[in-house]
Amino acid sequence: MTAYKSGDPTTLKRLYGRTKGKKLRGLQSDLMQDLLPQIGLPKDGAITAARLFGTDRPLHFEIGFGAGEHMAARANMLPDHGFIGCEPYENGVAAALTQIDNYQGMGPLANIRLHMGGALEILERIPDGALSFVYLLHPDPWPKARHAKRRMMNDGPVDMIAAKLKRGGEFRFGTDHPVYLRHALMIMQRHRHQFDWLAAHPADFQNRPAGWPETRYEAKARRQGHEVWYYRWRRR
Ligand SMILES: C[S@@+](CC[C@H](N)C(=O)[O-])C[C@H]1O[C@@H](n2cnc3c(N)ncnc32)[C@H](O)[C@@H]1O
Repeated sequence: MTAYKSGDPTTLKRLYGRTKGKKLRGLQSDLMQDLLPQIGLPKDGAITAARLFGTDRPLHFEIGFGAGEHMAARANMLPDHGFIGCEPYENGVAAALTQIDNYQGMGPLANIRLHMGGALEILERIPDGALSFVYLLHPDPWPKARHAKRRMMNDGPVDMIAAKLKRGGEFRFGTDHPVYLRHALMIMQRHRHQFDWLAAHPADFQNRPAGWPETRYEAKARRQGHEVWYYRWRRR
């Protein structure tokens, strides 16, 4: 098992991994210019549902939404809820914007706000107890032990997630990476005072639960024949 390293990303406050890929063109480039500023987060101050959406409503927070499939599908499923997605990879943000602009030919999704950048700098601006859901789906694994401190699943981020979730709120985590899974379970063991694991049987973490849309990385993992694990913890 990977040893715990002190100095996790809450302290380090740095981004790891790439933020740019292929040059954006056409619709994606237009949406980055026109739509992203309209649905971007305020530059400073507290981030609340009322400030973002005009009314108080359940708030969902997705860390590293990739191309945004899960976020868009959840937002479409729950139109009265508000969604905040954070993703530093420009091409991922652009892909998500195309879904927000026109979700599966059904028109725009009005209940998503985006931040192109790291999740923790936004999470800390959300008032304690304000979130109903936090999603961490297929985070970058950083499989080498010496990179363990870069993993989002570490004590600092988990403490922050716990603080921002309301009582009864849910933290969902998915991975197909065995090293990351063992690391995550070791971390979550240390946070039993904050979270109850919502699993009674192995099937509960071996099968994708209802209301948990598939992500791009998950689909890729399945194609490669990997097992995928689904964890749900409820804030105590
Ligand atoms: C392996 S991808 C998974 C993407 C998506 N969740 C999925 O399942 O398809 C991990 C994502 O986390 C993003 N990421 C890395 N560090 C992050 C951070 N500090 N805050 C938010 N997202 C981050 C990466 O840019 C990348 O898109």
